[in-house]
Amino acid sequence: MSKFTVVNHPLIAHKITMMRQTDTSTKDFRQLLEEISLLMAYEVTRDLPVKDIEIETPICKTIGKEISGRAIGIVPILRAGLGMVNGILTLVPNAKVGHIGLYRDPKTHQPVEYYCKLPADATERRIIVVDPMLATGGSAAAAIQFIKDRGCTDIKLMCLIAAPEGVKVVQDAHPDVDIYVAALDEKLNENAYIVPGLGDAGDRIFGTK
Ligand code: PRP
Ligand code: URA
Repeated sequence: MSKFTVVNHPLIAHKITMMRQTDTSTKDFRQLLEEISLLMAYEVTRDLPVKDIEIETPICKTIGKEISGRAIGIVPILRAGLGMVNGILTLVPNAKVGHIGLYRDPKTHQPVEYYCKLPADATERRIIVVDPMLATGGSAAAAIQFIKDRGCTDIKLMCLIAAPEGVKVVQDAHPDVDIYVAALDEKLNENAYIVPGLGDAGDRIFGTK
């Protein structure tokens, strides 16, 4: 079974509360999502391996640490995942970015793929799949499967808010993929929206409703 982590931090909790509120503007919503993504990236990258390197300070030679091993690939699930990319890039500026386009069919709630473009060396990278909402888990599980089908083996999933149902779906389908969320909410409603959630993340990021 994969590791499931709720990234607990007062700053994250405070910012999520602001994001949930109906009267938070599109501009603030987008900025808060970016800030939380940066804070979460700190936790998601915690286990990156480091190696010793010899360096010279103005005072003397010493041994410093340098990240070794796999470079990072960020893969947002379109559209809403785009809102999490810049925050991570602020912390990991050399990461490459792929894109997976999925939408939920409004009637069946099943994910439909409409786009996929990954970095050429994606299989050599640690892939962080990002999407603010993990609701039924259908979109994330499908996106991860598409990425695995293209040969990637080191994958993590980072979401803002999850429903327990979605966590279970992804863990059952992908027991090798660790999941990081900023909040675990109560349940899904009859329209497969997260309760209490924050509504439609894509619409709130891009101001489309
Ligand atoms: C939302 C969200 C996830 C998906 C979560 O995207 O950003 O991708 O729904 O739902 P699930 O866990 O039940 O699959 P949506 O399909 O609304 O598309 P959008 O990002 O283009 O708004
Ligand atoms: N997608 C969203 O944007 N919000 C939800 O609550 C569920 C799916």
